[in-house]
Amino acid sequence: MTGSRKDDHVRLATAQHQATGEDTATETASPPSQFDEVRFVHHALAGTDRERVSLRTRFGGLEWPVPLYINAMTGGSAKTGEINRGLATAARETGVPIATGSMSPYLKDSSTAGTFSPIRECNPDGFVMANVNTNATAEQARRAVDLLNADALQIHLNAVQETVMPEGDRSFGHWPGAIEAITAAVDVPVIVKEVGFGLSGRTVSQLAKMGVRAADVAGRGGTDFARIENSRRSDADFTYLEGWGLSTPVALLDARGHGLPLLASGGIRHPLDVARALALGAHAAGASGGFLTTLLNGGVNALVQQITAWLEQLTDLMTLLGAHSPAALADCDVLLTGSLREFCLLRHID
Ligand code: FNR
Repeated sequence: MTGSRKDDHVRLATAQHQATGEDTATETASPPSQFDEVRFVHHALAGTDRERVSLRTRFGGLEWPVPLYINAMTGGSAKTGEINRGLATAARETGVPIATGSMSPYLKDSSTAGTFSPIRECNPDGFVMANVNTNATAEQARRAVDLLNADALQIHLNAVQETVMPEGDRSFGHWPGAIEAITAAVDVPVIVKEVGFGLSGRTVSQLAKMGVRAADVAGRGGTDFARIENSRRSDADFTYLEGWGLSTPVALLDARGHGLPLLASGGIRHPLDVARALALGAHAAGASGGFLTTLLNGGVNALVQQITAWLEQLTDLMTLLGAHSPAALADCDVLLTGSLREFCLLRHID
């Protein structure tokens, strides 16, 4: 059952990204996003020299060579094992950190280990994140980290997805305690992430008290798991939950200054969105559905070319903006327009 569900997720997520005609190279072909309401103020004399720009990013005691990562996606079936092989190869070739998909299938059936292990086998020197849900025991979390010799562990929060899934969890009250227990049990940094509905400032404040190292806001605007799970249901669905949650820009604005370094994923379409996310306080930006679509449509080389181009163009954007490091983008002037502006007025964000 899990294997076919994971294959469904791949098929339905790439269908979402293909349907929106997302062209990850330019903004014009992408669907509207609240990232389009974050505009850098152009200062004609602010530019610097490209050779002075470094993409290295540091947060929560971690140091990544670049502020871009391949975010959690899959594993658990033969097909998704091949996808992990391709994603890990692209991570190795470009140096970007990578997360595996939820390792629940492996924790239930260790014979599926070979669908997750390529994330490390194909990427022996890269930064690798294991991934579990809040039902994992302390021992299972350690097994997940050990299988990949992971550098960090992601715990994903996906209550909306579970609610839409007929077979989904309906008990969420134990999640804070589970996060604390898992965080105490593993000897690698823990990053808590959503799956596309966003982390609020209140949630990040709670996570900060649980020993978590960083929070990946994983907001609305990209892959929508309410849509994915609705299309997997045979009976009355939860269509009205599609589009639920905080967009990634709103989540970043709400979660800043709540005690944890932030990562941004959820609707990152191109290098300008990466720069915008960093300007709103994220230390790195991740992508899943868009990178998966590139891999399935064009193979590993196409994904390597896309990630390489994003990193080159991000360097050019930082040169234009006079930002010598990813952190320096947070000092750049930005204009917030439209509904994003209204959000800031409502929350009195300067
Ligand atoms: C995901 N995502 C995800 N997240 C997670 O923590 N564990 C998981 O197992 C999965 N599985 C998964 C499968 C597929 C096919 C996709 C596309 C995504 C969520 C992912 O990490 C990310 O948070 C969201 O997809 C938002 O980012 P994008 O897709 O808009 O870039």
